[in-house]
Amino acid sequence: MRVLVLLGAPGAGKGTQAQVLARTLGIPHIATGDLFRAAVREGTTLGREVKEYMDRGELVPDGVTVGILLDRLSASDARDGAILDGFPRTRAQAEALDAELAARGVGVDRALYIDVPSEDIVRRLSGRWICEAAGHVYNVASRPPRAAGRCDIDESALVQRDDDRAETVRARLGQQMGALGEVVAHYRATGALVMVDGGKPIAEVTEALLDVLRPAAERRVG
Ligand code: AP5
Repeated sequence: MRVLVLLGAPGAGKGTQAQVLARTLGIPHIATGDLFRAAVREGTTLGREVKEYMDRGELVPDGVTVGILLDRLSASDARDGAILDGFPRTRAQAEALDAELAARGVGVDRALYIDVPSEDIVRRLSGRWICEAAGHVYNVASRPPRAAGRCDIDESALVQRDDDRAETVRARLGQQMGALGEVVAHYRATGALVMVDGGKPIAEVTEALLDVLRPAAERRVG
């Protein structure tokens, strides 16, 4: 089982990169934000509970978040591993993940931090559009769809996220970066942390991530 963690500020490009890595590595992309947005769309009790936190740009409480993530990680398609996007976001979540993986005899393989200057974040998020069907990610400036307003992959309509309004983006940055710092410290201590420059074009960031994930022997030959 190979578990990779993608870390970074809101808008750093975690979802964009996780979708490519999942296709390349053949393991599922699991994003707590996507799981929460699906619950909100379906109008479940969980959806009603988490929407209030998301609308305020706050983290959803650890108990709820850990439960939904571990449940998803137990699905059969994650038997060989997964790419976790947006989880863990607190030290308690990181420790809960460690405990679950230790019980399966594994650990987090790499925690990849996508580092983007904060001045780029608001611009990226205000230009983001995602597809209604599956959350495929586009950007008016850096990744426009082939046909305006339609997903290249499944042709569903493109929509903007409620929490991409400028004031919610500022709240997300203000309220979530402190906890993220503790997660970074956690993975630095375990030796799993790798920093990647996320300010470069999308394809270059993908190459840098894949380079980290290639076995050392292959990197020497290449
Ligand atoms: P979540 O959905 O996880 O949001 P986030 O972490 O804030 O991250 P984003 O999805 O906004 O950004 P991203 O890094 O995936 O960037 P993307 O690839 O889209 O969480 C939403 C909410 O749910 C949270 O605020 C919280 O309330 C709750 N939540 C979720 N997980 C939780 C947890 N573990 N604990 C507690 N609460 C939780 O890219 C952004 C844009 O930039 C796109 O338009 C893209 O096309 C563009 N782009 C990407 N890369 C580049 C590049 N290299 N150059 C130029 N443009 C780029």
